Amino acid sequence: MSENVVGTCSLPLAIATNFLIDGKDYLVPMAIEESSVVAGASHGAKLVREGGGFTTEATPPLMIGQIQVLDLADPYEAVERLLDAKGRLLEEANKVDPVIVALGGGAQDIEPRVIDSPRGPMLVLHLLYDVRDAMGANVINTTLEALAPLVEEITGGRVNLRIISNLADRRLARAQATVPQEALTFDGFEGKEVVERILEAHAFAQADPYRAATHNKGVMNGIDGVALATGNDWRAIEAGAHAYAARNGKYSPLTSWHRGEEGNLGGSIELPISVGIVGGATRANPTAKVALKILGVNSARELDRVMAAVGLAQNLAALRALATEGIQRGHMALHARNVALSVGMPEKYIDQVVDQMVEERKIRPDRAQEIARELGTSR
Ligand code: MEV
Repeated sequence: MSENVVGTCSLPLAIATNFLIDGKDYLVPMAIEESSVVAGASHGAKLVREGGGFTTEATPPLMIGQIQVLDLADPYEAVERLLDAKGRLLEEANKVDPVIVALGGGAQDIEPRVIDSPRGPMLVLHLLYDVRDAMGANVINTTLEALAPLVEEITGGRVNLRIISNLADRRLARAQATVPQEALTFDGFEGKEVVERILEAHAFAQADPYRAATHNKGVMNGIDGVALATGNDWRAIEAGAHAYAARNGKYSPLTSWHRGEEGNLGGSIELPISVGIVGGATRANPTAKVALKILGVNSARELDRVMAAVGLAQNLAALRALATEGIQRGHMALHARNVALSVGMPEKYIDQVVDQMVEERKIRPDRAQEIARELGTSR
């Protein structure tokens, strides 16, 4: 799968629970090393389940491929020529993968654009391609390379780049949720107050890109975990998500929260998610294969919807914790375990050392070693 390989680098694979999405229960595999993410997703999903579960939708899996065309005397005239030759271009594009075409996918449309650049105007031809159950990068890149000579012939220009765009804004996934106000009552905080504090947190992210970046990082904790578990390209999803978050010229939160009927908390998310359940590592990697089986999704679109719900659940859990007790308390036990392991603590002392560090709220390698010494280990 890669070059110069000397080993593999494994991550914990966990199952997030409580997800009720469009009336179907899901167990969601997540591969992630960070403490509290899986617990957070499961907790967020539990809160949403009390409001009836997630409602989701995903657009057809339309990806964008880009062909950069240069050295044109009149790029606008070349745009007209490409539009006139649309039928020919789509026919040529659809020769590349007859299987995807037979499944109802393939090249659907072209959109030539003229953009300003530091080197003057250039023509960019977008090919809109329905990738069905694939992530799509391979089929699109192959198609673009096959199409380039015809594009040069039609425009009289010179093609430079031919590559998929990770700003997959024609392939969007959306999820919505309602959390009953009472479900948010917690540790001395009334549900009503928690709703208010979550709305304040959302307003902070809307107003401030410094906060929005962290807000979205939390969303992506969940989405990346599922992408990794299912053998999908999480970098592509990250790139698309953050570019989409900045689409209006200001980097913004990917989720939105409001007070709905009867004071309940309403939330939604919308972002591009380009994942596959065929091709790439999804089938070659045995763990990814098992993860997809556990998840029980039947199409890439279904996986898109589940991942949007996971992103929303993850954000809900983070905001609820941040706006009340803070996130450190929930993190502490797992963090303490990691600290104990990092100093090479013998297995039999780990639980006691962890409990004591959490109790003292002193989670440090030197303290772990001290406690272990007190317990009689030589380490
Ligand atoms: C940590 O990985 C994620 C959070 O920082 C997300 C957030 O601040 O919303 C807790």
